[in-house]
Amino acid sequence: MANIKFLSGENIPLEMHKVRMVQKVTLLPVEQRVQCMREAGFNTFLLKNRDVFLDMLTDSGVNAMSQNQYAAMMQADDSYAGSETFYRLEAVLQDVFGMEHFLPAHQGRACENIIAKVLVKPGTVALMNYHFTTTKAHITLNGGEIEEIIGEEGLKIQSNEPFKGDIDIDKLTECIKRIGKEKISFVRIEAGTNLVGGQPVSMSNMREVSRICRQEGLTLVFDASLLGDNLYFIKTRDEKYKDVDIIDITREIASLMDIVYFSARKLGSARGGGILVSDHDLFLKMRELVPVYEGFLTYGGMSVREMEALAVGLRETMDIDVISQTPIIIEALCNELLSNGIPVVTPPGGLGCHVDAMEFCSHIPQTQYRAGALAAAIFIAGSVRCMERGTLSEQRNDDGSENLAEMELARLAVPRRVFTLSHVKYTADRLNWLYQNRRLIGGLEFVEEPHMLRFFFGRLLPIGDWPENLARKFRDDFGDSL
Ligand SMILES: Cc1ncc(COP(=O)(O)O)c(C=O)c1O
Repeated sequence: MANIKFLSGENIPLEMHKVRMVQKVTLLPVEQRVQCMREAGFNTFLLKNRDVFLDMLTDSGVNAMSQNQYAAMMQADDSYAGSETFYRLEAVLQDVFGMEHFLPAHQGRACENIIAKVLVKPGTVALMNYHFTTTKAHITLNGGEIEEIIGEEGLKIQSNEPFKGDIDIDKLTECIKRIGKEKISFVRIEAGTNLVGGQPVSMSNMREVSRICRQEGLTLVFDASLLGDNLYFIKTRDEKYKDVDIIDITREIASLMDIVYFSARKLGSARGGGILVSDHDLFLKMRELVPVYEGFLTYGGMSVREMEALAVGLRETMDIDVISQTPIIIEALCNELLSNGIPVVTPPGGLGCHVDAMEFCSHIPQTQYRAGALAAAIFIAGSVRCMERGTLSEQRNDDGSENLAEMELARLAVPRRVFTLSHVKYTADRLNWLYQNRRLIGGLEFVEEPHMLRFFFGRLLPIGDWPENLARKFRDDFGDSL
């Protein structure tokens, strides 16, 4: 990794790439931003991208690709069966992960569907460091339940623990005793644990979880969607790995797992997904489902062009100068916010900067969606689109009551190699203004509430006319600035 010191002593995240293709973005006046938010039902998923200045909704499928990825797309072999592209991708995956079998799927949740259909039986429990929305949905759709066994530090907003995604080993052994191993569908480790702030899992923890699973005969599943970030943190936060090549760290992790799956919308900066497995019987069981849900075995719902881009993107993920780019930008954004007293998840993780809406909007009842309200307010303040990750992203309990989230986060995702330092400074500036005016932010209530994954397309209204008041204050403070 490039170690570049500035004469000024400042710690500036330096881009290790240059821009050779651009997309123009526009910044609408604040009054129009309120209008757009109303039209989107106060749900940032429903905003039109043309109305957004900085799209920090997600890092999924929106990462910048390299010139080599684009070049590789031109050599895609467009055949339904037996495509050369498939064999090229399979060879890269086998080399990088050291696992024998590869099943393609159109994205991460498609892998989860296949894994859940094979491993989850009604009444079983899947143990995991923390759930991801689509993972949980597939497990519950198949009649299973989940239990989260992340360590205590993982759920603290501010911590000095470098690997907050670690599984609590005592909880794991207690669960195995209490539930019984025959009722455990699988154990899942999520790299770069998304919903707790993109927090990494340590190698020593993965090793210990793997040892216990092997001893008990439990299947260990690894969600590698955010592996790139996790690899960077292992290399930079674990002294033992500072001189180990990224590819060797990857192979060591994979050797501990029974199944590795990923969203290639994140890992490898393309669009697609895949499952890797060593056990032949397990492979055969999952293989049957690929043509039913995804497509033939040599494309699995992916475009062959994306498969070529993924093959190159995975090789590039083995380069510390590539995978360091997002974490160092996120760290810069987090530090800028922290210096203004704005509560964010620490230590800074991968994926994005996570603002603690529980505290930022502590004056709003949690049932009025603190993080959802903050996400809407951030758009009004700066035309920055972020994502609610809190109660709104949860499903109601069976009796209709709210399932209040443990964390209320507004996630400012940092797509890989997309934004510049001035974008980061602008975002921090608008958040700083918003924090000073946070009492103007009010709550939200549903007017259209889907039963499942309601955060994707549910519509809400503000309680009172706080968005207009916020826009008026913006005008007073910023004059004719956008
Ligand atoms: C950790 C994790 N697992 C699985 C998925 C699902 O992947 P996809 O969006 O490609 O379906 C995501 C997507 O955000 C994720 O972050």
